[in-house]
Amino acid sequence: DDVRLWGGRFADGPAEALAKLSASVHFDWRLAPYDIAGSRAHARVLHKAGLLTDDELQRMMDGLGLLEADVAAGTFTGTIADEDVHTALERGLLERLGPDLGGKLRAGRSRNDQVATLFRMYLRDHARIIGGLLTDLQEALVGLAEAHADVAMPGRTHLQHAQPVLFAHHVLAHVQALGRDAERLRQWDDRTAVSPYGSGALAGSSLGLDPEAVAADLGFERGSVGNSIDGTASRDFVAEFAFITAMIGIDLSRIAEEIIIWNTKEFSFVTLHDAFSTGSSIMPQKKNPDIAELARGKSGRLIGNLTGLLATLKALPLAYNRDLQEDKEPVFDSCDQLEVLLPAFTGMMATLTVNRARMEELAPAGFSLATDIAEWLVRQGVPFRVAHEVAGECVKECEARGIELDQLTDEQFAAISPHLTPEVRGVLDVPGALASRNGRGGTAPSAVAVQLGEVKADLAVQ
Ligand code: ARG
Repeated sequence: DDVRLWGGRFADGPAEALAKLSASVHFDWRLAPYDIAGSRAHARVLHKAGLLTDDELQRMMDGLGLLEADVAAGTFTGTIADEDVHTALERGLLERLGPDLGGKLRAGRSRNDQVATLFRMYLRDHARIIGGLLTDLQEALVGLAEAHADVAMPGRTHLQHAQPVLFAHHVLAHVQALGRDAERLRQWDDRTAVSPYGSGALAGSSLGLDPEAVAADLGFERGSVGNSIDGTASRDFVAEFAFITAMIGIDLSRIAEEIIIWNTKEFSFVTLHDAFSTGSSIMPQKKNPDIAELARGKSGRLIGNLTGLLATLKALPLAYNRDLQEDKEPVFDSCDQLEVLLPAFTGMMATLTVNRARMEELAPAGFSLATDIAEWLVRQGVPFRVAHEVAGECVKECEARGIELDQLTDEQFAAISPHLTPEVRGVLDVPGALASRNGRGGTAPSAVAVQLGEVKADLAVQ
């Protein structure tokens, strides 16, 4: 029989084409446990307002318990005819309690305030799941940094050799970015801890219900919304969540791109574990960095989810519009993607092998110590403008001779500039160059040790 929520004024049921278009139950079913939690909280405030007797409340809770068990067991599911999860569960309750009691729960609430509330609850849970997976990745990267605390590598700008850095410093740069993502998730979670339940369709309720009690019941630490129109119509919490997940995707893709490059024959900086790389169906020798490539690819998809959502929200008049039903699939997808990607990505990073010899061979190559010559000259009292020029001359001389900076003879140095006494050699080695950058945030082993301590302390409270 007809369980439509608006049967009263309609002579006919919806056309099949409308029902198909309108249905969201195939993707919003994942909100079912939250819907039932919302129904329990709503039953309690109806009871508090004198709209359900003690006995009715008890039977309502029993009915919701049965429904919850059937949903969990998969023996009750929504259908296209139900349209959405809220209507499907309404039907389930009516079937279990009969129309008289079952029909009482709808008083004072609308699918508009329901969906806005449940969506927040779902995303808050997944913000925590994703936050936990991020912590796992950060810990794997910290482990990688600690296990190679003294390995030097070429630091790059424009992908060109720039200055030597500690491999650990480079890895921790990624940990810092991921730490900000994790912080964004926590701050978003706090901002989203406000419940729209009780806003009704848009204007609030005349039934004397207590939105603050519902908010407390559902775990919204910051209470209920201050404006029922905003409560039902705003989706900036969704857009912000989509941004944060897109940003995580982008931060992963930046690591991924480096792994792909480092894993080439030409770089040979890292070797991926067999369990976290793939082969080729035709080329027997291949071992491909597919996890990194999928991370790079999925970052595009996560960006798409954000931009699609923003386009849906743009210029929507207040309050609820059905356009808003388009808000869920993109971020559900962002959750799903990150929740499969992050564990694989963490596994890849936790198990790769670092080729220390290759990194250290290349660390001083490409004249990456030219800046050290210039800064040594500055310490001798030479103005930086001159020092930069002189160090540049050294590079030019080396290029002409096909040698590296430390292969210049004392005479060749002196010929370039009288300031270049043999003592300049003291800065032409990688450990010296690293150790000299010992200010806060620098790449000296002492500074990186401080950074590592800070990062680990942050992770411990994250
Ligand atoms: N399924 C809808 C959504 O996801 C909620 C239903 C509100 N529908 C309505 N006609 N007011 O946004």
